[in-house]
Amino acid sequence: MAIATNLLQASASEWALVRRDPSEDIFGVQICGAYPDSMTKTAQMLCNEIDVDFIDINCGCPIDLVYQKGEGCALMSRTGRFQHICQGMTSVMDIPLTVKIRTGIYDDKNIAHQLVPKLRDWGVSMVTLHGRSREQRYTRLADWKYIDKCSRLADPMPMFGNGDIMSFEDYNFARENSNVAGTMIARGALIKPWIFTEIKEQRHWDISAPERLDLLREFTNCGLTHWGSDTQGVATTRRFLLEWLSFLHRYIPVGVLERVPQKINERPPSYFCRNDLETMMASSNCGDWIKISELLLGPVPDGFSFLPKHKANSYQ
Ligand SMILES: Cc1cc2nc3c(=O)[nH]c(=O)nc-3n(C[C@H](O)[C@H](O)[C@H](O)COP(=O)(O)O)c2cc1C
Repeated sequence: MAIATNLLQASASEWALVRRDPSEDIFGVQICGAYPDSMTKTAQMLCNEIDVDFIDINCGCPIDLVYQKGEGCALMSRTGRFQHICQGMTSVMDIPLTVKIRTGIYDDKNIAHQLVPKLRDWGVSMVTLHGRSREQRYTRLADWKYIDKCSRLADPMPMFGNGDIMSFEDYNFARENSNVAGTMIARGALIKPWIFTEIKEQRHWDISAPERLDLLREFTNCGLTHWGSDTQGVATTRRFLLEWLSFLHRYIPVGVLERVPQKINERPPSYFCRNDLETMMASSNCGDWIKISELLLGPVPDGFSFLPKHKANSYQ
């Protein structure tokens, strides 16, 4: 996800976010903005400058700072402007435009079912619906009944559903109980990136701690290739690694669970892991995440501190 105005102002760090890695066989860029002219110009620049398969509009971000600027979730209630954004963008794009939305802004007032058919008529190729309102943030479970209702109104445009998928069973439930064309997985993929293998193979994988460390090592190597292995590149890689570890520690190994699968909203009682590495990976203490980062990237500089940015890493 990149901020449209930052891309237009040629911010190097923003353009670094939309750089495709050769291993990415499908690659989309999500942009966040509030105005038809800047969003259209950004779409045109992205199509001209980078190798991208689709562009998505961020219409789900709940953060106050974004919302007050009329961006993210705020677009859901500004249909006139939203229409101009979609039509402006599709007029300059030769790749599909997709949109990510929520159920609505307020808890008791779903509006996605009114918006989804409009988006289809404005030339949008696919919509992803996160089954919660802005007000709700991550409290309570996503409303898959409502996701199903909206997906039926989207026809023939495909609609993806999003919310709370953490295991192949959650995925199967979503597919069997809704008309969605596919699902999107966010926290489940951060907490257990092997979830896609589990879904494909329809099984729970009792992955070992050294295997998980190998995944972290691969991530670190990709980070250093992407941002460079100089002091700044190491610092950026470490920051992204620590943000990720703030989610990863929520994984409870299949082998220690009394009942599989782990559910996204269930906070476990304290439990014993099977070895020191697994114990360190299960720690919710920031100091332990820093220690894991040191195993992979060397010692942190004097006075280093870290506070995770994303509140979705904790239980609600
Ligand atoms: C760390 C983090 C970053 C996110 N960033 C974005 C984003 O840039 N754009 C977006 O549309 N949604 C973003 N989301 C929201 C997710 O796409 C998703 O809608 C939400 O987490 C619910 O899905 P889940 O239950 O699978 O986590 C983010 C979520 C997390 C946890």
